[in-house]
Amino acid sequence: MKFIHLTDTHFVPAPRRLYALDPRERLRLAIADINRRHADAAFAVITGDLAHFGEPDAYRDLKAELDQFSIPVHLAIGNHDSRTAFQAAFPEVPRNEDGFVQYVVETPVADCVILDSVMPRQDGGTLCAARLAWLDRVMAERADRDVWLFLHHSPLDIGIPCLDTIRLMNAEDLWLRVQRHGRVRHIFFGHVHRPISGVWRGIPFFTPPATAHQTELQYVERVLTPGTHEPPAYAVVLADAGSVVVHLHAYLDDSARFIMDYKSAESARTLEELAVAGPG
Ligand SMILES: [Fe+2]
Repeated sequence: MKFIHLTDTHFVPAPRRLYALDPRERLRLAIADINRRHADAAFAVITGDLAHFGEPDAYRDLKAELDQFSIPVHLAIGNHDSRTAFQAAFPEVPRNEDGFVQYVVETPVADCVILDSVMPRQDGGTLCAARLAWLDRVMAERADRDVWLFLHHSPLDIGIPCLDTIRLMNAEDLWLRVQRHGRVRHIFFGHVHRPISGVWRGIPFFTPPATAHQTELQYVERVLTPGTHEPPAYAVVLADAGSVVVHLHAYLDDSARFIMDYKSAESARTLEELAVAGPG
């Protein structure tokens, strides 16, 4: 099974720009690339910070872009989002009985549990008692199923101080549920604006770069988060009952494509002398 993971689209209403970039164009190009290369994907998921300031018009513009997807898209919200404005623009996205953007997407391989870790007016995240109670119930119903968790905030320190202070603040509460269920196979999150993978207490995790601006790789304490225009990317996730493989694709990269044949490997002095690869 294949699905696509994108994150942190940070929409502002047209024609405004954000940190000298056009977040709408960057998502538009991602969707066009995904439609062209991955029409066979089961779905795409976007792990929050859909809009930068949470204005209704930003969600209106986001909806227009997402309508171009040839595959279904599942949405989570992040600290930059307004839950109210998001839900007004996307009434079709499920919410739980308490109004949080939490729902389950079943797949043949694992059940995707989408969590709402937004804490109003805070950059850090939380899962309050109501959201945890929902998670308890959902996981109890799926005791015999593998689960993938999707949320905006990182449940662990990733070594970048300005991000570690705004991670999921009550990660121990999430960990209790992960431990109790025993079949959480992967955690996918956003928020970080950098490609990072690893293992949290035995559970693999992954977060892709944003489709909008990125965070600079700095391990020093900073008052303000340093940003960069490093390339955006989306992830292609290939999964079956025994494996999850994550491919990161920098979809705006236009560097040379060529065939790695032995004939031209050393003889080619210019790109023109390499055999050109067909479209991928
Ligand atoms: Fe973000």
